[in-house]
Amino acid sequence: MVVKDGRCIARGATEAYGGRHAERVALDSLPSVDAARGATLYTTLEPCSHYGKQPPCVERVLRAGIARCVIALADPNPLVDRQGIAQLQQHGVEVSIGVCRAEAAAWHAPFLNWQRRQRPLLAAKWAQTLDAQLAYDGGEPRWLSNSLSRRYAHWLRQRYDAIMIGAGTALADLPSLTVRDCPPPRDRHPHRIVVDPGARILQCDQERWQALQTTLFSDAAVTLLVYREQYRNRNNKRLDELQQKNHVVLLPIPAAVEAVLPWLLEQLPQALPQERAQTLYCPPIESILLEGGPRLLAWFFQQQLVDVAHVFIAPYIGGGSRHRLSSPRPLIDTLDFQLVGHHAIGDDVLIEYIGHNLATTLLSDGKG
Ligand SMILES: NC(=O)c1ccc[n+]([C@@H]2O[C@H](COP(=O)([O-])OP(=O)(O)OC[C@H]3O[C@@H](n4cnc5c(N)ncnc54)[C@H](OP(=O)(O)O)[C@@H]3O)[C@@H](O)[C@H]2O)c1
Repeated sequence: MVVKDGRCIARGATEAYGGRHAERVALDSLPSVDAARGATLYTTLEPCSHYGKQPPCVERVLRAGIARCVIALADPNPLVDRQGIAQLQQHGVEVSIGVCRAEAAAWHAPFLNWQRRQRPLLAAKWAQTLDAQLAYDGGEPRWLSNSLSRRYAHWLRQRYDAIMIGAGTALADLPSLTVRDCPPPRDRHPHRIVVDPGARILQCDQERWQALQTTLFSDAAVTLLVYREQYRNRNNKRLDELQQKNHVVLLPIPAAVEAVLPWLLEQLPQALPQERAQTLYCPPIESILLEGGPRLLAWFFQQQLVDVAHVFIAPYIGGGSRHRLSSPRPLIDTLDFQLVGHHAIGDDVLIEYIGHNLATTLLSDGKG
């Protein structure tokens, strides 16, 4: 945000991956080169000082004649790491750091987490009944949460780079996993990752297979199908069919079932073949929304990998016992969540938690 004489004269948000940073977007929107001379620039992250996909923001800020820069957070990217701040100060710009630091850290959580831990931020999202069922035992295809909760869930999707589900969910719900029913913009669809070690999707009945082509494997987004390598060499027409689709990436994993998810988490950043990454819109996967089902979610909780939880509670008793977040032992001491917020959404309640480790990581440099 650019403020001059107590008035906001320009605002900007960083464009999609590879595009202009917020500072440049705001300054470029002004009617003349001198319009921001003497103004104050407010940014969530320190203006960058290096050539990446875009030229350094610091150069643009200095060229605009900004007199003061109020920055919420220093940029932990080793290519920046306070050099942007230093350059601004060297050129006489007054710099304040740390204003609204916690809010900015929450907004930039995936980026900060990636820079500091070199692994994607993992957020679990699910809906459950009052008695903690994530689905009905009889398999009744009924939404648990209400339509407003689902609108929020769709909005949430665009905050993450990828959505991950298990094969059980893919086959039961035939989900599209796109961003649809929420306020615009709705043009950023995360990648879809389907974990199917037993290649059950390749063996399901024809009716489901056809339905999956227009939902999970539609060309609305990129879909990564993760299965064990032993199924690759079987003569499977469905694999050939998927291979023809430019937006589907097959990931045959050379590992035993219990090693599939660790392999995936480690290899995911390099998992997209380079030649395809050029033609697909492929930013690095810095954050993943885990949308279930219960078995997949339970594994992430047991491994203490869940950083954020978005939980919708619906006012029903689901009955049954099949679809719960089961664990062979209590996870009382290992799971350390802080409450971020709770909201009534119609008759549903949304509860949001952040893992203590992530909260500490986000604010870890202690300098702003
Ligand atoms: N309420 C909600 O928010 C919500 C969200 C999503 C889904 N659901 C419901 O949940 C039900 C499906 O859930 P589900 O538990 O049966 O299936 P799921 O969690 O969607 O899928 C399990 C899949 O992940 C694999 N998997 C699980 N743990 C693994 C591990 N440790 N390592 C490697 N692979 C692993 C399984 O492999 P194998 O095939 O080899 O066993 C299976 O393919 C559906 O009824 C759906 O409607 C509810």
